[in-house]
Amino acid sequence: MDETYTKIDLGLRDLAIGKRIYHYKKIKSTQELAISLAETNINNEQGTVIIADEQDEGIGRGKKKWVSPLGGLWMSLIINPRIKFAKINLISVISAISVSEVINEISQLKTSIKWPNDILIDEKKIAGILIDTSINHSKNDYIVIGIGINIDVDISKINLSVSSNNILPRKVTSIHNEIKGKNIDRFFLMKQLLGKIEFYLSLLEYDKNHKKIIRIYKNLINTLGKRIIVYQEGLKKYSGIVKDIDNSGGLILERDDKLLEIIYYGEITIREEYDK
Ligand code: BTN
Repeated sequence: MDETYTKIDLGLRDLAIGKRIYHYKKIKSTQELAISLAETNINNEQGTVIIADEQDEGIGRGKKKWVSPLGGLWMSLIINPRIKFAKINLISVISAISVSEVINEISQLKTSIKWPNDILIDEKKIAGILIDTSINHSKNDYIVIGIGINIDVDISKINLSVSSNNILPRKVTSIHNEIKGKNIDRFFLMKQLLGKIEFYLSLLEYDKNHKKIIRIYKNLINTLGKRIIVYQEGLKKYSGIVKDIDNSGGLILERDDKLLEIIYYGEITIREEYDK
């Protein structure tokens, strides 16, 4: 494993995010490294970004493996946002909106979000987001946003690794797979994405923008009105119909027994896809 990094300057001088970017050829996981940097000194690392060409042991949600070969954007971003505890879930929401919008703007591909934060193109997963938080209401609070985008990766490698798991979407794609012939500059995509995240973070700091953010999220979510199964810690927990999204991004589910349940974490499968 090559643990040396290059410092990258994307010229993000007006932004708090991305002023310091460490680029590794190959590491275990950008998320793991970002968490350890944040744990050591969040004040110093606020806005730091770690990016790797390849990850040996990329981490996905629910402690699953995230296959990270060459050709993807594998990055983790450290923030210490000035937002209230109750809004933490909205970090996942704004990250999903940002990734979805940037892929759409760069490639013109129509993206959607599978709750809570999988980014899809035609039901195929193109990007995933992992949020790690340490919030104790102290100055050392941090959030690490991990983002993986399949830009030009060998899809067959990734498909193989998820095909046996029904909880994950069974199909995976990449930007290149969808729009053959057009080269996407990874660093340009990253620059746009960091700018977008910073914009939505600043919106989040004002209470009155909540509803606007949720409105944008709801427009991108592909799950409203659908019959779903919810898994938590890998086990089937609920099944029902998605009625709405609440003000912090929670899923309002009408369970099969007609009781309403608000769900803040887990993985979902849309039943009609599952039953196919
Ligand atoms: C998911 O399961 O959908 C979330 C995947 C998140 C993957 C990214 S790649 C960069 C960062 N480093 C990791 O080890 N994981 C995240």
